[in-house]
Amino acid sequence: MEKILFITSNPHKFSEAQSLLKKCGINIKRKNLNVSEVRAESCEEVAKAAAIEAYRKIRRPLFVEDSGLFIKSLNGFPGVYSAYAIRKIGLEGILALLKGKSRDAEFVCAICYMDNAKLVQVCKKCKGKISLRQKGKNGFGYDPVFVPAGKKKTFAQDAKTKAEKSHRTAALKALCARLAKR
Ligand code: IMP
Repeated sequence: MEKILFITSNPHKFSEAQSLLKKCGINIKRKNLNVSEVRAESCEEVAKAAAIEAYRKIRRPLFVEDSGLFIKSLNGFPGVYSAYAIRKIGLEGILALLKGKSRDAEFVCAICYMDNAKLVQVCKKCKGKISLRQKGKNGFGYDPVFVPAGKKKTFAQDAKTKAEKSHRTAALKALCARLAKR
């Protein structure tokens, strides 16, 4: 069966997706493609616009994901600007913004799949809290400061919990279920 292309420049996102999708019989291949990231408030809108643009360019079954960390007391910041914020102010900058504030947050992962017959969108969340300081070495991005609900360790300290409970795992499982139905 033809491999589905995962349009991403992020090797961490790719390896998380590859191991999970393999379990449900979907083989994927990573493709770097320059697609514009639209300015939008939600990960769903960003992923959909990118998938449509990517499909126009390559016309093969593909999916795009857009994810981000939404912090409640910062009105959802950094949200769709998560990659930008980490580049500009880093995790220490985010921790500094949260001094004296509520630390509730959620990761969001939106995936948009497209082929010649359908467009499938899924979006899942993982609730948790921002830790007081960075802990752990695994993962990427905000993993060293994100503690999922009901746990004590950050995603960067506990890769097993991340693989089981993350926003990306939930979204990929939902994508598997949706693709299997059709
Ligand atoms: P984008 O989806 O390429 O716009 O980037 C999303 C950004 O959100 C990433 O660069 C990370 O900074 C952050 N992010 C998304 N998912 C995760 C995750 O699973 N762990 C840690 N950070 C994440």
